[in-house]
Amino acid sequence: MHIGFATDHGGYVLKEPILKALHESGHTVNDFGAYELDPGDDYPDFVIPLAKVVASRQVDRGIAICGSGVGANFAANKIPGVRSALIHESFSAHQGVEDDDMNLLCLGGRVVGVALALEIIQIYLDAHYLRTERFERRLAKVAALESKESIT
Ligand code: RB5
Repeated sequence: MHIGFATDHGGYVLKEPILKALHESGHTVNDFGAYELDPGDDYPDFVIPLAKVVASRQVDRGIAICGSGVGANFAANKIPGVRSALIHESFSAHQGVEDDDMNLLCLGGRVVGVALALEIIQIYLDAHYLRTERFERRLAKVAALESKESIT
């Protein structure tokens, strides 16, 4: 699988073990930074470029990490076509893909340790969207919010 990855300083502690695990599992990774630990960096600078390649399907799935995962998730979901969620347990890591076609996973680098992060990521990447009529219907209602007419 082709994975896009981004982290700010708050998630940087998880970067090396996650990239190592992804490579060992045979995935290719587009790394959108940060490329060094800078306590003054801003998550949108890394997450938005990642979210854009997820939306344009240049990567199969995205993974974004900040301190809590909250800001990364906000930023990612501003990009039309991105279906991002902040997930710290296993059930949503697979059901979010199966039912909701989640294409970007956010984690909090100050919330989960390496082992749980790797487990959640593996579950997320192993899951497949089930594309039933009812899931498609629900996603179409969400996608309709991305058109200009829906704002009023
Ligand atoms: C850390 O500066 C923190 O604010 C950031 O990484 C992130 O958690 C925001 O949601």
